[in-house]
Amino acid sequence: MCGIVGYVGPQQAQGVVVEGLRRLEYRGYDSAGIALVVHDAAGGTLAMEKRAGKLANLEKAIADRPLPESTTGIGHTRWATHGAPNDVNAHPHTGGSRRVALVHNGIIENFAALRGRIEADDHVMLSETDTEVAAQLLELQVESGVDLTTAMQRICRQLEGAFTLVAVDSQDPDRVVAARRSSPLVVGLGDGENFLGSDVSAFIEHTREAMELGQDQVVTITRDAVEVTDFDGNPSDGKRYTVTWDLSAAEKDGHDWFMRKEIFEQPRAVADSLLGRRTADGLLQLDEMRLSDDDIREVDKIIIIACGTSFYAGMVAKYAIEHWTRTPVEVELASEFRYRDPILDYSTLVVAISQSGETADTLQAIRHARTQRSKVLAICNTNGSTIPRESDAVIYTHAGPEIGVASTKGFLTQLVACYLLALYVAQVKGTRYGDEITEIIHQLEEMPDHIATVLESAETVYELARTHLNTKSVLFLGRHAGYPVALEGALKLKELAYIHAEGFAAGELKHGPIALIEEGLPVLCVVPPQGRDQLHEKMISGIQEVRARGARTICLAEEGDTSIEPYADVLIRLPRVPVLLQPLVAIVPLQLFACELATAMGHDVDQPRNLAKSVTVE
Ligand code: F6R
Repeated sequence: MCGIVGYVGPQQAQGVVVEGLRRLEYRGYDSAGIALVVHDAAGGTLAMEKRAGKLANLEKAIADRPLPESTTGIGHTRWATHGAPNDVNAHPHTGGSRRVALVHNGIIENFAALRGRIEADDHVMLSETDTEVAAQLLELQVESGVDLTTAMQRICRQLEGAFTLVAVDSQDPDRVVAARRSSPLVVGLGDGENFLGSDVSAFIEHTREAMELGQDQVVTITRDAVEVTDFDGNPSDGKRYTVTWDLSAAEKDGHDWFMRKEIFEQPRAVADSLLGRRTADGLLQLDEMRLSDDDIREVDKIIIIACGTSFYAGMVAKYAIEHWTRTPVEVELASEFRYRDPILDYSTLVVAISQSGETADTLQAIRHARTQRSKVLAICNTNGSTIPRESDAVIYTHAGPEIGVASTKGFLTQLVACYLLALYVAQVKGTRYGDEITEIIHQLEEMPDHIATVLESAETVYELARTHLNTKSVLFLGRHAGYPVALEGALKLKELAYIHAEGFAAGELKHGPIALIEEGLPVLCVVPPQGRDQLHEKMISGIQEVRARGARTICLAEEGDTSIEPYADVLIRLPRVPVLLQPLVAIVPLQLFACELATAMGHDVDQPRNLAKSVTVE
């Protein structure tokens, strides 16, 4: 997830672009860059600057070595996916003759094949990015004599994956061209000037008039015109609207909190984390993983280490990995791991899950594992952070920057990475048939739509949350993969609303916790899908037991499950999905519940008391 800005008009483009990047920096801060079209009597050239790290590094570079005046420019702030976060991989990218400059958000899935073709024609690629492939292709097109708009349409027809591209051509000074497929892009409509941005915060201080683009569209902006086509060049339309938010709300895309925005980004985050994971013949591939098939065949035990929410993702992973691969899995809190003298050797795979990649407890645990000759695989959302750097292998999640301290989209994308890991091990070890793996991948690919369906009922959950303002304690129950969901739901409520909340495996109730039940106590129950191993029936018995003792049961159950109706005081419906994948939908109402209750109580949802986003101390 990166931030993109484009501008053409009477103002100095540098100021407009850098200001836009500042507002989009929350989308990624691995590097920042700018390209301006400079036109004088001698013709047109590009002026470019790009720097690894935060926008401040780019600003310093521009202050030290000022760029020439220009009224047309593009800019980018990067959340690294392909290639390390360094100056060379920073955007914009150009072709070999530095005629066009291009910035990109998303993942070009077929970049390896395209790169091979470009290199076979003796063009030299400077970076490790998928983006440079698009820049090279675009430049080859304009050099062949077509205009930038046509060139963009042509290259988009060759690209697979999700992308927003924005480009300028030094020989065409008053035009910026952009394209989008499954990645965000909005046009800002000014008076004698026009803008492009990943979201409206990029230009809201200049105009509130905006245009939303559809799938597979190319847009050309000049000072006085905005023209939209499809990828084949047929005229098309964008949807105009007026932004009613103020600047601070705009950065949050109209939401009151980053956390709420991130909850609503989950369908996209899950889809992005699934992108590019399959070869043309349908096999699962985990490009960046760096473990050979022999390494994987050698694994006879997996130990997952993580903290907090990431630990709960690991608990779900245990169910999936053991079921699909028949490899034993232990899940351990990273802070406890090395102090118990764990039994490890070269055939143990240690999987470290960390959104930030900087959590000190997890880092120390992987260091310990490596001294015991175990291989370490990191599941991480932050490219270039310490934990993946110190691991033998990594699977990156593509949630984009998570700014709210409480993890939401980080958790869902960790689950996706765990499912992919489990299926990959199953594929290599041959514990599941190829058809079965393909079927599960299809089910995973349907999850973004299911998550979006759950989000459509957010208002019902909000209303429920607002009736719990004076609640002192809430219990969460789950079974099987729903048990970690109950724990995560309780954690969200504790950390945001500062309410006592506890999650239990429903079968454990009768061994003690049932003593806590009293009249009116809210108990949130994650009901497993019907029809497997009597899990569902056993869960209903647990719900009956607490209800008989006065609890108020709030049940999350799949569509069509009528057997739960007599026992639910409140019923929240979930889409019908397989039991192992249910955490991806079941956690969403619990996130919304905690976020809304904390808001109604007047708490700072994005920065809850006593917490920090990256816990870099043990
Ligand atoms: C809770 C939360 C934390 C983190 C934990 C690990 O909402 O965000 O519990 O999950 O601190 O952080 P990472 O995943 O960055 O290692």
